[in-house]
Amino acid sequence: MLSHIIDVLADPIDGSDLKLVDNRVVSATGHSYDVAKQGYVTLAGGAGLRYSGDDTSMIKARETFLSRGHFAPFVEAVSEALSYTSEAPVIAEIGAGTGYYLSHALDSIEDSRGVGLDVSVPAAKLLAKCHPRVGAVVADAWARLPIKDSSVDAIAVVFAPRNAAEFARVLKPEGEVVVLTADTGHLGELREPLGIIDVERGKVQRMIEQAAGHLVPVDTPQDVEFTMRLDQESIATQIGMSPSARHIHADILAERIAALPATMEVTAKAKITRFRKA
Ligand SMILES: C[S@@+](CC[C@H](N)C(=O)[O-])C[C@H]1O[C@@H](n2cnc3c(N)ncnc32)[C@H](O)[C@@H]1O
Repeated sequence: MLSHIIDVLADPIDGSDLKLVDNRVVSATGHSYDVAKQGYVTLAGGAGLRYSGDDTSMIKARETFLSRGHFAPFVEAVSEALSYTSEAPVIAEIGAGTGYYLSHALDSIEDSRGVGLDVSVPAAKLLAKCHPRVGAVVADAWARLPIKDSSVDAIAVVFAPRNAAEFARVLKPEGEVVVLTADTGHLGELREPLGIIDVERGKVQRMIEQAAGHLVPVDTPQDVEFTMRLDQESIATQIGMSPSARHIHADILAERIAALPATMEVTAKAKITRFRKA
């Protein structure tokens, strides 16, 4: 519910304090934002949102795939990597999708509360109900985040955009960012048969270089690698929740998936990088 996190949120236009008045979020300077009936609020500045993010079918595929537990080692690794010093920490997930990672983190950390931010409206509808201590916000991760300075204990980013300057601004001095990025070889067994491109090499190093001046790594990025046993339906939902879904015609993809064995061992491979403020 938005009431759990309203003290952490800020007006996207001028950064002023926000409060909840009936079904609106109102800033100290008089700007007003409607709370949708599903419980999320869109906090965008004057120009509105430039992206729409993942569409309904991608979010649905993500929800189905994640609900089957195939990425359980990823969710465990992200929750374990999150560090905080407050008694009631605020955890923000940027590009939070269905809230799979954020709700798991909130379950693992007593009295924590979560800001689930995503630019996608279908994602926000699920985020708003993913956990009793989550507030869902539709906003662009590349714009000024509608979050107060030095207000967040930990930020999680899982396969989603990283705005290092904004993360450094909203983090508390001792706060940390946990980033999970796909690594070269992720879904390796599916790449050739389905015609999907691999993750480029050196991705984490480039991310660290781009964050310089705002965030520095706490330690060496950690590998998270495991094998999933996927049937054709799970493979279809995995591809359906990724950008590949937009690049390959649905009929061609369905044909290629139908030509795969009934079940396959598929590698999941990512790196976890923890950052603190520079
Ligand atoms: C690959 S999905 C990951 C979702 C979630 N973290 C997970 O792993 O289940 C990327 C998410 O980032 C969101 N996204 C993409 N561009 C964004 C932006 N500029 N601002 C906020 N969210 C964005 C998408 O809508 C999508 O939900």
